[in-house]
Amino acid sequence: MGVFWNLLARPAIALQDSEKAHSRGMFALKMAQAFPPMRLLMKLLWRPKQTPCEFLEWNLANPLGLAAGMDKKAENVMAWESLGFGFIEVGGFTATAQSGNPKPRMFRNSTHKALINRMGFNNPGSAAAADTLSKTMSKRKSRRMKVLANLGRSKNTSNENAPSDYCESLRTLWPYVDGFVINVSSPNTPGLRELQEGNALQNLLDSCIEEEKRCGSGKPVMVKISPDLSNEQLDMVIDCARSAGCAGIIATNTTLERPQPLNRKSESFVEQAGGLSGQPLKQRSTEIIAHIHKRCRGKWPIIGVGGISTAEDAWQKIIHGASCVQLYSALVFKGPSVIRNIVNGLERKLKLNGLSSLDQAIGLALEEEE
Ligand SMILES: Cc1cc2nc3c(=O)[nH]c(=O)nc-3n(C[C@H](O)[C@H](O)[C@H](O)COP(=O)(O)O)c2cc1C
Repeated sequence: MGVFWNLLARPAIALQDSEKAHSRGMFALKMAQAFPPMRLLMKLLWRPKQTPCEFLEWNLANPLGLAAGMDKKAENVMAWESLGFGFIEVGGFTATAQSGNPKPRMFRNSTHKALINRMGFNNPGSAAAADTLSKTMSKRKSRRMKVLANLGRSKNTSNENAPSDYCESLRTLWPYVDGFVINVSSPNTPGLRELQEGNALQNLLDSCIEEEKRCGSGKPVMVKISPDLSNEQLDMVIDCARSAGCAGIIATNTTLERPQPLNRKSESFVEQAGGLSGQPLKQRSTEIIAHIHKRCRGKWPIIGVGGISTAEDAWQKIIHGASCVQLYSALVFKGPSVIRNIVNGLERKLKLNGLSSLDQAIGLALEEEE
């Protein structure tokens, strides 16, 4: 199937505007997931072997998740499950529906294997997303693949009022998801990253965790951070989120940094405003993961994301401290076969290293350094 992707799908996608290609892909998945034979076909073609992964209190089929921003309407949960993800993150959702920034706002560059986006939380709003998720829930036979909701702040809400915006989404979505990610790191909503600072972060996380308890308790609340934090800022976020009771951290979101341009096309690509994802983010996000793992002595769960497109990339995130991993950009460049290649490749890495389970690999590179 990788061959099919390289020969036919990739050139076809390359001719299309990035966001249009994305919308068409989402529509195709939506159509496919509606028919049981198509779901079966997706499983036969793409689903990886099981590589069980204990994360929080979950026993996932594998440690690979879909990163936030791909399924902004939470409309393809069953398709992601058939393709073989161990968990997915849907959204980002805001309390009010919003259309996001003017188009074009998503850019692809195959030389760098990177995307730049300035979507600005285009999403149907948390109430509509809850409605979609509730319909899917009744159709799913197994709930093994966990669904996290990524929450952001509505554009018209000030940072001062951010807690009530996030809490409204959390309350609305609570019955339909397995956990929450408090996203304070998207670069495309003015002022949002300031919520990573001191009192603002404390206030926001305390409010969200309180709200989760009021809803019935038991669903993990995590925080997602930017790769552009200094080590001091990072330590502050870690300490604040741990003391607030966050169940873990997702490292990282997209970066404002840019790679050196390699040709004319990449020169105009790197000039685009927005958050960069994909290969150029890989190194920095792994450094951040290692920093968090060391500071918390491996006692706080990390989901690693940023530039993962091979089993080796995922392995590096895990041996530097991640318990699970996610991807977005690689799905655009490599298609759904990337899921099986990564998960089956991780299984092989375990065997090669004489390990019997993934948790034995977490932070291994850092132990060797000591
Ligand atoms: C088009 C696009 C939209 C995104 N939207 C969100 C979002 O709504 N919330 C969020 O936390 N991250 C969002 N992200 C960031 C991804 O979840 C992920 O952290 C980032 O792309 C790095 O992973 P990758 O290198 O595998 O793509 C988005 C990324 C892209 C490319």
